[in-house]
Amino acid sequence: MARVFSGIQPTGDMHLGNYLGAVQRWVAEQDERDAIHCVVDLHAMTVAYEPAELAERTRRTAMLLLAAGIDPERTILFVQSHVRVHTELTWVLNCVASFGELRRMTQFKEKSEAQDFVSAGLFDYPVLMAADILAYDVDEVPVGEDQRQHLELARDLAIRFNHRFGDTLVVPRATFPSVGARVKDLQNPTAKMSKSSESPQGTLLLLDPPQVITKKIKSAVTDSGTDVRYAPEEKPGVSNLLEILAAASGTTIEQAEADFAGSGYGKLKTSAAEAVVEYLRPLQDRYEELARDPSEVTRVLELGAEKAEAIAEPVMARIRAAVGLLPRS
Ligand code: AMP
Ligand code: TRP
Repeated sequence: MARVFSGIQPTGDMHLGNYLGAVQRWVAEQDERDAIHCVVDLHAMTVAYEPAELAERTRRTAMLLLAAGIDPERTILFVQSHVRVHTELTWVLNCVASFGELRRMTQFKEKSEAQDFVSAGLFDYPVLMAADILAYDVDEVPVGEDQRQHLELARDLAIRFNHRFGDTLVVPRATFPSVGARVKDLQNPTAKMSKSSESPQGTLLLLDPPQVITKKIKSAVTDSGTDVRYAPEEKPGVSNLLEILAAASGTTIEQAEADFAGSGYGKLKTSAAEAVVEYLRPLQDRYEELARDPSEVTRVLELGAEKAEAIAEPVMARIRAAVGLLPRS
């Protein structure tokens, strides 16, 4: 089985787009891949953040993945800072990466412009990401387009390392999973649903209570006219609601369109809201259960860290030997 690695930012929440576009697939593919999911708390420290909130957000992010169906028996789920190899390997790779290539990272340029204080950690972000991947002999890294350059760097570092120190690291491949249709912002249906949306009303969070989901969907921006038709260019609002309804009720867009032909926007919204509430109910129930049992979550993450370490430590031992560090014993 191919080993795949993904890193998830510890934001503490997720929206319907993350779930439909990524998490749902991870859950479905658990038997086909040797999957490792890492909540990247060290990456979150590279920009301004609230120390009092980081641990809780990290835990909540892991709980959301578990509630969504990530099974810790079949998938390794762990927290980046729990496995020390990530930081140790970052240092080694820092001495393989060049200042010039890091300076060319477009995400660094963008993010550093948005910060008052630009940390050295932000500059080094892609090297930490390369360490995440290279510590696990990973075959594939599924990422969005925005991470393409970082993945290319991880590959370059692995190739350069092997060239200089002998064959030691597995060179990973980037994959770009086709994201079906993008879920759009309910208030601005020509933009994708996103955390950073200007209007929180446009984003459906996985843990929004039923009343909030219903309110957000009922106040979704629709289009002029009255007919329910799937026409993303001409009717982005209605088309988005049809897509959400279809995904949440497990039918096709064509079927949803046929079901609502002749009914008004009001009925479409009511049905979409009911479908999303029902769709998210099992996830929300599981999340509640996990929230009531914090020691279980701690146990699961500890187990994940142990499994992750059992892979990463031997890789790190190979690396220490290859770069010429004196063995401790
Ligand atoms: P982000 O939190 O924006 O980095 O997104 C993480 C992953 O969630 C992306 O790689 C996509 O696969 C998925 N995703 C994010 N936003 C959407 C959306 N609006 N519609 C569908 N998938 C999305
Ligand atoms: N940088 C990634 C993002 O912003 C998160 C990430 C950290 C990651 N380490 C990773 C993704 C390793 C894939 C592999 O989304």
